[in-house]
Amino acid sequence: MNRAPTTLIVLALLLAILAGGLLWYIGEGAPGGPSSGIGVADIGGPFALIDQNGLRRTDRDFHGRYALLYFGYSYCPDVCPTTLGVMADALAKLGPRTSRFVPVFITIDPERDTPTVLKKYLAAFGPNFVGLTGSLADITKVAHEYRVYFAKHKLGDGSYAVDHSSVIYLLGPDGKLLKFYDETETPDQLAKDLRAVR
Ligand code: NI
Repeated sequence: MNRAPTTLIVLALLLAILAGGLLWYIGEGAPGGPSSGIGVADIGGPFALIDQNGLRRTDRDFHGRYALLYFGYSYCPDVCPTTLGVMADALAKLGPRTSRFVPVFITIDPERDTPTVLKKYLAAFGPNFVGLTGSLADITKVAHEYRVYFAKHKLGDGSYAVDHSSVIYLLGPDGKLLKFYDETETPDQLAKDLRAVR
């Protein structure tokens, strides 16, 4: 049997799948392209996780306030601490209005980011940060809801790093996504934006 037609069919199928995936991605309003975006309706969803004090927390616990939500991991060498720093600095610039916002960090490395580890890590960014962890299944589910990509890769020393999307989500008091920002946002820009929130 000639294998060429089979190869062509497989290639055609792959192209169709790729094109379909791309259209889905664009159609659904993928995060990460522009530095910020408005009106992304289908991103997000309910979750039930464990905070840095070992307490069960759900998305509903944050309703009534604006949430700044970021996915990352405490072992992240650069992007996560930088972005959490931007969030902390922006909130500090809001003065008394800062109490309307809650910064939330969801780990995509639950294996290492236990509540205790998160507690120690987040203390550096201020007392208001909520850190969330859970089973890998729970984390995978919420990451999927927020279209957050993450993947482990091994390092030479036998440990691992986790590649991940870097998006700050602003959720409204109803828990729905209002806007998102990437890690190039400055504290001043973000604070200005948050001040405009009613
Ligand atoms: Ni990171």
